[in-house]
Formats: sequence, C-alpha cells, structure tokens
Amino acid sequence: MLLLNPSNRALTPSTLHTPTHAFPSTQSTTTGSSTKFSGLPVNGREDEYQEMNIVELLTLLNQSSICFLLCDRPKANSSVDDIPDLAGKVIIVTGGSTGIGREIVKALLSHNAKVYILTRNREKTEATIAELKELTSNEAHFVKCDLSDLKSIKVAADEFTSKEQELHVLINNAYILASNIGHFYLTKLLLPTLSSTSKNSGQKVRIVNMSSLGHMSHPLDFETFTDTPKRRKRSPWYLYCQSKFGNIVHAVELARRYGGEGVVSTSLHPGMIRSELGRHMTPVVQWFVDLIFFPTLLGALTPLYAATSPKAESLNGKYLVPWG
Ligand SMILES: NC(=O)c1ccc[n+]([C@@H]2O[C@H](COP(=O)([O-])OP(=O)(O)OC[C@H]3O[C@@H](n4cnc5c(N)ncnc54)[C@H](OP(=O)(O)O)[C@@H]3O)[C@@H](O)[C@H]2O)c1
Repeated sequence: MLLLNPSNRALTPSTLHTPTHAFPSTQSTTTGSSTKFSGLPVNGREDEYQEMNIVELLTLLNQSSICFLLCDRPKANSSVDDIPDLAGKVIIVTGGSTGIGREIVKALLSHNAKVYILTRNREKTEATIAELKELTSNEAHFVKCDLSDLKSIKVAADEFTSKEQELHVLINNAYILASNIGHFYLTKLLLPTLSSTSKNSGQKVRIVNMSSLGHMSHPLDFETFTDTPKRRKRSPWYLYCQSKFGNIVHAVELARRYGGEGVVSTSLHPGMIRSELGRHMTPVVQWFVDLIFFPTLLGALTPLYAATSPKAESLNGKYLVPWG
C-alpha cells in the first residue's frame, strides 16, 4: 500500500515534511460494509466506536497545539474574497455536507466553480446543497460515496467520470476515523482525469489532503495497519492520528510521482475548528472544544488557499498550516 517501509521502522513526522504556512505573504506565524478490505480496515472500528475523552483530547492536542489555541490566536489576514473566479473549474469536495467541507463548498460556489460533493448521506447533502444555493445562487452536485466502502468509491468515481471529462481540484476532506484507504482509492481512480485535464488545458490541477496537527501525536506503527491484535488494542483516536499522518505521506508521494504531470499535491492542518467533529466526543470534551476552537469558516481558509490560490501552485508536496 502507500506506506511501505522496508526497514519496518515507525516513521516519524520529522522524516517527511517541513510545514509551509498558507497565505505566506500575509501570515502571522505560529507554528459497504461488504467490500471492506479484509485485514485492512477501511474505516477503522466504527462499530466499536469510543467517544473522545479528555485524556485522548490532551494527547491529540500535544503541547504546541495547546499553546496555539490558548496563547497565540492569530488573526486571519486573508479571506474567501481572495479566491479568483473559478468559472469553468470542476472541483470535488468529499464530506462537503457539513463542517469545514460545507464552508469550502460555499466559498467555491460563490466563485462560480462547478462543485461535486461526495458523501454517504443523500438527504443531508441535498439539504446542504439547497441551503448553499439560497446563499450563493449556484448549485452543487451530489454523488453518493461511502469512503469506508471500496465498491461505493468505485461506483462514485465511475458516476463522476461519466458526467465530467475534466477535474481541476480534488479536495479529500471527509472525516474518516481511522484510515485513509478510501481517499487513497478515490484519488487513484481519479488520477487519469486529473492528469488529462492538466495535459489538455496546459494548466496545473490539484489534490488537497486534509490532515491534522494530530499526526504529530503518534508515529506510524506498521503492525497496526492490518486487523491485528495490536491494532485492536489501539484507541480510535490513535488510529485517527496515524491515518492523518498517512494523508501527508500520500500527498508527498503523489507530489513525487505526478508533480511532473501537472498535478500539484498538498496536505494541511485546517486549524482546531468547531464542526460536527464534536459528535465523536464526550459532552465535557465537546464543551471544551466549543469554548476554544475556532469558527468553521477559518477552517476552510487553508484548504481553499491550497485549492485555488495561484501562489499555491508552487507548493507541490508541502504541508500547510493555518491561516491566511
Ligand atoms: N475540526 C477540526 O478541528 C479538525 C482538525 C484537524 C483536521 N480536521 C480534518 O478536517 C476534515 C473535515 O473535518 P470536520 O471537522 O469538518 O468534520 P465533520 O464536521 O465531522 O464533517 C465530516 C464530513 O465527512 C463526511 N463523512 C464521514 N464519514 C464519511 C464516509 N465514510 N464517506 C463519505 N463521507 C463521510 C461527513 O458526512 P456524514 O455527516 O454523512 O457523516 C461530513 O460531511 C477531516 O479530514 C478532519 O480530519 C478537522
């Protein structure tokens, strides 16, 4: 798979990347059920799901992010108004029905992109599409895709490519608890369309992987990649952080392999952001998160920069941190 390491040692974040701040010129710096892979969990152990407790939250947050949240709350120097006109651009946002994804979709529609939202819940996503149409006068398109089900991902990719010949940006945003295989597979299926779009237009196209600061909390442990007893002992939040590390590895490798074909790949931490992420937490943690986390719109700024800023074309393989 995407994370092979011949020496079988745990990879650590420092081996992979140097963070790049989004909006560098203006930055105030701080730092289907039936088709699940056997043995390679696509979506972790949702069936055995545990809510995040305060100890898990503190582990996830590590020292630097606590400082970031409590002491150094930088103001955003850029806004969605900096996004160029996106008429003619076709963009996919996974998990665009709520949270950060919804804000990303709203901004893209406001700038005239043709947006496809890939999620598993039709009713919820269609309600979002209707709301955003009221707000932006533009309508996003829904493609059903359960990113924990490989068959569903294939069907979704086929549906998309039957409708569109071009894809300019793929934003792998959906919150998948403990695996990045779904986004890996979706990206693999859409790479031919991304490459041909770049080739035919002579312009760069982009892949944006939503990672998290949480990737720093846990190194990769290869013995927990498959459904082993060791993996079963790990908490879902450990696996979440590990999969967020995987999002970065994925983007770095995409950059190395496809950068020469005009495909710019980045990964990023969107900030600690209020969203429906709270549904995975105990009420105490949820209260704490609502108190100190940032508004949802701010979480969209870094991915929007990666996806649309002309300056971000030069950031192939980089990891971005918030914000403009
Ligand atoms: N919020 C933060 O503080 C924070 C911090 C660091 C990184 N991030 C990253 O930012 C991204 C967005 O997070 P968020 O906070 O906006 O999360 P969110 O509010 O929980 O939204 C997650 C979205 O993903 C969709 N989704 C979940 N499972 C799916 C599946 N199996 N197939 C298809 N879609 C699925 C959800 O749809 P349903 O409603 O149908 O489940 C929803 O649209 C995630 O990658 C997350 O890891 C967030």
